[in-house]
This record gives sequence, structure tokens and C-alpha cells, in this order.
Amino acid sequence: LGAHPSAAELLAWYDRAARRLAWRDAAPDPYRIWVSEVMLQQTTVAAVGPRYARFLARFPDVAALAAADWSELAEEWAGLGYYARARNLHAAARAIMAMGGFPTDSTGWRALPGIGPYTASAIGAIALGEPLVPLDGNVERVVARLFAIETPLPAAKPLLGRLADGFTAQPAMRARPGDFAQALFDLGATICTPRSPACAICPWREGCRAAARGIAGELPRKSPK
Ligand code: ADE
Repeated sequence: LGAHPSAAELLAWYDRAARRLAWRDAAPDPYRIWVSEVMLQQTTVAAVGPRYARFLARFPDVAALAAADWSELAEEWAGLGYYARARNLHAAARAIMAMGGFPTDSTGWRALPGIGPYTASAIGAIALGEPLVPLDGNVERVVARLFAIETPLPAAKPLLGRLADGFTAQPAMRARPGDFAQALFDLGATICTPRSPACAICPWREGCRAAARGIAGELPRKSPK
């Protein structure tokens, strides 16, 4: 399928163009990254912004979240939807307190309620520096285009995952896995968008097989439901 484009080039773009999002403001704290990734599972970046700050003001750390009553958490979650996420946050906070601290790797996180493969990889990469590429819809789209994968989703998912993992061979990615993951999210959200991608200003334009063929906006293909 050919070579991967340069992680260093994407990171250089990220250093110039990263969105300033609240969860990127400080040294990565597992609690703050965990809360942000759970909110972002089903809520847009724009909607999460103000709610994230409010949530952290009310529950500043895992001990505070574990000690809260469900009714307080439910009240704070109002309007965000998908309340199972809040239930799982609460259960996981109590499990973390019972374990005496946060899991120290993504495998440990994966065992907690509400943490699927995507969220475990995101926390692993962003909070723990593990060389993982979290595969969300943005990353699937970027990778499908880079390699001009014509196989439709969802069948293409394992292949897209393997291609995404291929970036871990690059030392530049392994030096900054959390920034690399978030650079992919930003590229997908701002340039490599679902329709009318802005290929002319993409830092990866040269290596992108879909752009070369003029089909970026058509990928990834999707199987009829
Ligand atoms: N979507 C999910 N996680 C994200 C993050 N850390 N930054 C931007 N968008 C995201």
C-alpha cells in the first residue's frame, strides 16, 4: 500500500495550527483527559468546551467524582445526553479509588466501565505517552484517503486500524503520541473534512493517494445499511 507520510510534517503543522481546546491547556492529567474523551465520545468539540470547564470546577479530581452522589453527577450531565456515559464515569471513578489510583497503561483503562478501545487508546496516547493511534471517525477518514482505500466501512475498519498503527514506526510519532493523535483529530475536523476537504492547504497533500486521484471527498466509502 506504500509508504506512510511523515509524522514529523503533521506535527509541524499541528504546532502551527492546533485548535486551542480546554483539555490541551496543561500537562496531561489522566483525570482531565479521561473526562474530555468520555464527553467527546458523543458530543461535539464545540458543545463540550463550556461543559468541560464546568464539570471540572464541580468535580476537580477523581476523588471528588467518586464521592459525589449520582444525583449531582446526573444534574451536571444534563443536556449532554447518553447518560450511560455519566453512569460509567461514576462507576469507574469509584473503581479507581478502590484500586488506589489510575491505571498506568491503556490496557488497565480498557478494563474500566465506559472505556472502549478508542477511549483507552486516546487516554494511553494523550495522558500516558503510549505509541497508540486512537481510531475515531476522523482518523478513519484521514487514513482511508491517504491510502485511497476503496473498501467500504465498516469492513475497512481493521485495515484502517493497521494502517493507522503503521505510524508508530516513525520516531517522530513515538516522541509525541498524544500530539500526533490530536493532530489527526484536528486535520480531520478542519482540513480533511467529510465533504469538500481542503486538500490545497493540507500538510499531507503530497503523499495523499486520494488527493492525487481527485477522490478525497468520496472516501471513505460506506456500505449501505
Ligand atoms: N475528539 C476526541 N478526542 C479529541 C481531542 N482530544 N481533541 C479534539 N477532538 C477530539
